[in-house]
Amino acid sequence: MSDLKVGLAGLGTVGAAVIRMLERRAGDLAARTGRNLKVVAVAARDRTRDRGIDLSGMRWYEDPVALARDPDIDVFVELMGGADDPAKAAVLAALDLGRPVVTANKALLAKWGVMLAERAEATGAGLHFEAAVAGGIPIVKTLRESLAGNVVERVSGILNGTCNYILTRMADEKLAFDTCLAEAQRLGYAEADPTFDIDGFDTAHKLAILTSLAFGTRVDADAIYVEGIRQLTLEDIEAADDLGYKVKLLGVALRTETGIEQRVHPTMVPKHWPIAQVSGVTNAVALDADAVDLTLVGPGAGGDATASAVVGDLADVARGVKGFVFGLPVATLMKAERAPMQRH
Ligand code: NDP
Ligand code: HSE
Repeated sequence: MSDLKVGLAGLGTVGAAVIRMLERRAGDLAARTGRNLKVVAVAARDRTRDRGIDLSGMRWYEDPVALARDPDIDVFVELMGGADDPAKAAVLAALDLGRPVVTANKALLAKWGVMLAERAEATGAGLHFEAAVAGGIPIVKTLRESLAGNVVERVSGILNGTCNYILTRMADEKLAFDTCLAEAQRLGYAEADPTFDIDGFDTAHKLAILTSLAFGTRVDADAIYVEGIRQLTLEDIEAADDLGYKVKLLGVALRTETGIEQRVHPTMVPKHWPIAQVSGVTNAVALDADAVDLTLVGPGAGGDATASAVVGDLADVARGVKGFVFGLPVATLMKAERAPMQRH
């Protein structure tokens, strides 16, 4: 049985969890894919940090671009974060060599997704990103592969675990916003810069990716109306509760007569609606399509949940799975028009 030699950049919450999962599940993954999934080289900033994982035998890089170009890896995994370099340069370096890439980086895909997909198409490299949207929920493959026969009318839901955690703790425990955010950071849910979470941009990045997959548009986060939860107080949440509502940060994309409307904002949801009961770090994505309507619910952030999606993508790479990055050739993806906001 041959090895699939993995080069992995980023050894934080997600990267460390991926290494642990690959070790824990090595036998079963080999049986399922016919290859040994082996991390042979890693990159991070601080070599001295104790990460609770055994890195012995792995080549160490401080420069993730050099890791992406290591001649003795088969796949490059990017788990550093950040929309620009070094993540962008490292992913491009791997794609340019025709080397498959797995990433959890929605900020990178929301900003550079079209360019990266073009590069992946040009070189024949796969670009896999199940972990970039809704953590452990397999929403990317559901939209791109399982529902390929459907016409999707609407994608909506809770796409940020940090915000849902904060809103749940504020409502249930009457805790202050800052206390709940600090908890979410400690639990490894928040972005390195948590303003991406609380100001709605992380949800927008994910929605931009889902919109592309659902409606065949070019990823375009700038076409999204975005409002976060930073301004919400305990009093707002209690007032909504008194009126029979929960406050949720929702991302919504729907087909309208004037284009695809995309928006992210706090929403008062009647308490008896299923989505109002989605609590903590859990995410939920509802898909309304012509043949099926369904809702996927699951852990939206955290090391193990996200590692689950990354390792699933690595298993796809080991099996030789390829396809168009956003489900269609880039040349046929449409521009996402920003439709005027409507009340729904
Ligand atoms: P962390 O901040 O925990 O880890 C980031 C890692 O990247 C660290 O090991 C850091 O090194 C390394 N790194 C950062 N910059 C550089 C650099 N310039 N050169 C080399 N290494 C670098 O992030 P997470 O693990 O939480 O997130 C990683 C990615 O996964 C992000 O794109 C995030 O959006 C995404 N994601 C995260 C989820 C979560 O629940 N945390 C869920 C879904 C997606 P060092 O440790 O030495 O500082
Ligand atoms: N910070 C993100 C969240 C991580 O809280 O949802 C998962 O993408």
